[in-house]
Amino acid sequence: MNQPKRYTITAALPYTNGPIHIGHLAGVYIPADIYSRYLKLKGEDVLFVCGSDEHGVPITIKAKKEGVSPQDIVDKYHQVIKDSFSEFGIQFDNYSRTSAKIHHETASDFFKSMHENNKFIEEVSEQLYDQEANQFLADRFVTGTCPKCGYEEAYGDQCENCGISLSANDLINPVSAITGNKPEKKETKHWYLPLNEYDSWLKDWIVEEHKMDWKPNVYGQCKSWIDDGLRPRAVTRDLDWGIPVPVKGGEGKVLYVWFDAPIGYISASKEWASENNKNWEPYWKDKETKLVHFIGKDNIVFHCIIFPAMLKAEGSYILPDNVPANEFLNLEGKKLSTSKNWAVWLPDYLKDFPNQQDVLRYALTANAPETKDNDFTWKDFQTRNNSELVGIFGNFVNRVIVLTNKYYQGVVPPKNNFEAVDINILQEVKKITSTISNSLEKYRFREAQAEMMNLARLGNKYLADEEPWKKVKIDEKRTETIMYVALQVVSALAITAEPFLPFTSNKLRKMLNESKLSSKILWNDLAHAEELIPVGHQISQAELLFVKIEDETIEKQLAKLEASKLANANANKEVEPQKELISFEDFTKLDIRSGTIIEAKKIAKTKKLLELSVDIGLAKRTIVSGIAEDYKPEEIIGKKVAVIINLKPVKLRGVLSEGMILMTKNDEDKLVFISPESLDVKSGTTIS
Ligand code: 2FM
Ligand code: ZN
Repeated sequence: MNQPKRYTITAALPYTNGPIHIGHLAGVYIPADIYSRYLKLKGEDVLFVCGSDEHGVPITIKAKKEGVSPQDIVDKYHQVIKDSFSEFGIQFDNYSRTSAKIHHETASDFFKSMHENNKFIEEVSEQLYDQEANQFLADRFVTGTCPKCGYEEAYGDQCENCGISLSANDLINPVSAITGNKPEKKETKHWYLPLNEYDSWLKDWIVEEHKMDWKPNVYGQCKSWIDDGLRPRAVTRDLDWGIPVPVKGGEGKVLYVWFDAPIGYISASKEWASENNKNWEPYWKDKETKLVHFIGKDNIVFHCIIFPAMLKAEGSYILPDNVPANEFLNLEGKKLSTSKNWAVWLPDYLKDFPNQQDVLRYALTANAPETKDNDFTWKDFQTRNNSELVGIFGNFVNRVIVLTNKYYQGVVPPKNNFEAVDINILQEVKKITSTISNSLEKYRFREAQAEMMNLARLGNKYLADEEPWKKVKIDEKRTETIMYVALQVVSALAITAEPFLPFTSNKLRKMLNESKLSSKILWNDLAHAEELIPVGHQISQAELLFVKIEDETIEKQLAKLEASKLANANANKEVEPQKELISFEDFTKLDIRSGTIIEAKKIAKTKKLLELSVDIGLAKRTIVSGIAEDYKPEEIIGKKVAVIINLKPVKLRGVLSEGMILMTKNDEDKLVFISPESLDVKSGTTIS
């Protein structure tokens, strides 16, 4: 597309069933934020939207597990996720939610408009059904073997292993995720989007128009789906959580979450417009708007095939210009997993590394899974911080700001006469900044960030070569020029760092006292301005940008992961019984009652034995118990206990014992009563 008039940038709406982790940040939100910040710095008209994806089966499943309503779940996590984004500087123009009224209206209208224009097929067919749960099984309510790659835990809407989009009926050996039962089949009516009718249009649009500009992973997946042949896809579900199907016959049914969620980008834009007195339509309907969807690789089919087909069918919207999907991020060599707690959660990171959001942003971008799955390791995180952010970036900035304050009381010195080395470095700054632009516009964020760090490297080398701290003693004029040039590099760094390290850039702008300049330094100044910071301008004091991260901090994080690993291993372990198996009938032979100790005395000449008198309701029992080393007789009078009362009586040290009290040992190896105290039941009550 030629120079667009405006940009609409979307980031995948996260499911609202838990906090977000580093995989989400690295895959979607950081790249989207870098891109949006860059364009805004360039003065472009940008609308950057996102919101919580609050419908769909993962939310219903979580609610069932926790015994609360789906609304409780989404209310909780919407806030948690929204806060994390804002804390990590992900600067959306609007972060909305799909339970918002405006979204329900927008998605319903979208469906109705397609329905009125006969864009759907209505069909009654047999679908998987769980009798016990009284529920149709679609999407994540059912798992089974993927017909394409053989992965055994594919979902009813998608296989996360090979990425193929599925219908529940495609699964081999389906199993209900609710009860574990083998589903039956039952007839039901649904509305289908006939993707097959868009086959040749999609081929032209993707294969002809976007072969060269979409990332190879995105293009490749799309091409293979189109080549495999597209089939009609149901866009409604028999569920009670979601947006009601707004047409006759749709009672008791809701829109498929992947039908409503991408429309959420439009609703979020409408909400932004109404709150800011703007018009949302050009951002979605003007052909000179560039629409870009940032997503993870498991969302490709929905954003490149299904949503574009919906937009095309509806007819009044533009199509995405690009869908720069990332691959997945692993953690310490293993797939990130919410259920196995193999993740670094953003709220946890912030607790452990307060005010160090930029360090995580930097490390994640440096290792972004742009072209293949990539690995986050704590060791790499530490090295990125200590060697690059502290050692190169922080060190360079600090030296320039401190020396300017020391030599010139913080006033930018005159430039005097440039030597070739000065002209070269200023040219190099321009070259690097234009390389950064180039990379960002091609969605190559790792490369762009590495170039930004090269700017700091260049500055450091310049200082090391020119040694102003030595020249200051012998050549005042030359020192002034060096410091003037170094200050220009720091200023360029303040701007180019903003998309990647927004908190640091902000601090840097404060150090440079940018608010006292006649105007804010903009991205375009990097290529065109004669100078970024003028002679005579008063800067402020140096502020600490980054701190060294010690080995023990990293070891703590690794220990946390190790604990998750152990917990998982134990969770999966079968506990082997220490005694032979008994039948339920064997168990029911035991007559266990609640009782109260009413008398207790030591049995003479024994260390361990107490003679107890236990009230078991209508009777009293004498029991000899080996607890004298742990309890004094007077301590246990009135104690509620569980007693087996049908053990054959046995004489112990001359006393007939008529039962047994149930006990266990605590961590300190002390005998403790297994007691019905907490139940507060009457003596004599059966325990079974
Ligand atoms: O994969 C996910 O987390 C989905 N909730 C993404 C939805 S993106 C969009 F369509 F809204
Ligand atoms: Zn598969």
